Amino acid sequence: MIQLKNIHKSFHKHSVLKGINLFVKKGEVVVILGPSGSGKTTLLRCINFLERPNDGEVTIGDFTISCKRPSKQEILKLRKKTAMVFQHYNLFKHKTVLENVMEGLVIAQKVPKETARKRSLEVLEKVGLSDKIDTYPIQLSGGQQQRVGIARALALNPEVILFDEPTSALDPELVGEVLEVIRNIASEGITMVIVTHEMGFARDISNHVVFMDQGTIVEQGSPIEIFTNPREERTKQFLKRITPDVLYGVS
Ligand SMILES: Nc1ncnc2c1ncn2[C@@H]1O[C@H](COP(=O)(O)OP(=O)(O)O)[C@@H](O)[C@H]1O
Ligand SMILES: [Mg+2]
Repeated sequence: MIQLKNIHKSFHKHSVLKGINLFVKKGEVVVILGPSGSGKTTLLRCINFLERPNDGEVTIGDFTISCKRPSKQEILKLRKKTAMVFQHYNLFKHKTVLENVMEGLVIAQKVPKETARKRSLEVLEKVGLSDKIDTYPIQLSGGQQQRVGIARALALNPEVILFDEPTSALDPELVGEVLEVIRNIASEGITMVIVTHEMGFARDISNHVVFMDQGTIVEQGSPIEIFTNPREERTKQFLKRITPDVLYGVS
């Protein structure tokens, strides 16, 4: 479903991704863990070519794009298969909740307005915001804003949703409602790649866990393998530091 082959990315001379290979099956939820600066955001952005890799190949579904001179059409085709949920929501402040969700459908996907509206109302119901459709983002809590961000991604009907630390900007008491919405979407079988520091959530929701450090995948495996029995010292250290309480039996 998603296949990354040998993804390299540098900014100027700083090598941020050093040959990432990853395979994600259709319907799988993959969680990416790793310390700040390890390249998690850059990796997500390479999957939809918001950042263009310097080397390597990205496949989503039946479509493969190489970083060597991809055309604009190829990049657009890839982007249409994905949607992204950002750490800081990235909503349009001067648009209502409904307009925010409709925007991508009407502008990028050229869906007729009435169809876009209907689809947007459906997904807003799914994230529990039917009563907020005419509200502006500033009038909403962070948790509600992020649920709009998720609705906007869902509306696009993507093959893959990429989440970049979707709850890390939220006050602790608002994290739960957003994780709940993500859990509900996951249960519908959409393929997801999630960068998060919420370890309990990561363990419960994922089929596969990837631990990154310094631009490489240090270790990957099932949540049980990674959380209860990590092989690599760097993984152990990271997990110990971040939340010892979700680990069972890591010495
Ligand atoms: N647009 C950019 N220009 C220059 N350096 C960047 C850019 N984006 C990320 N980096 C650098 O790449 C490294 C990895 O960043 P990032 O992918 O954001 O890591 P993470 O999401 O794991 O915290 C960091 O050292 C960061 O400073
Ligand atoms: Mg990041």
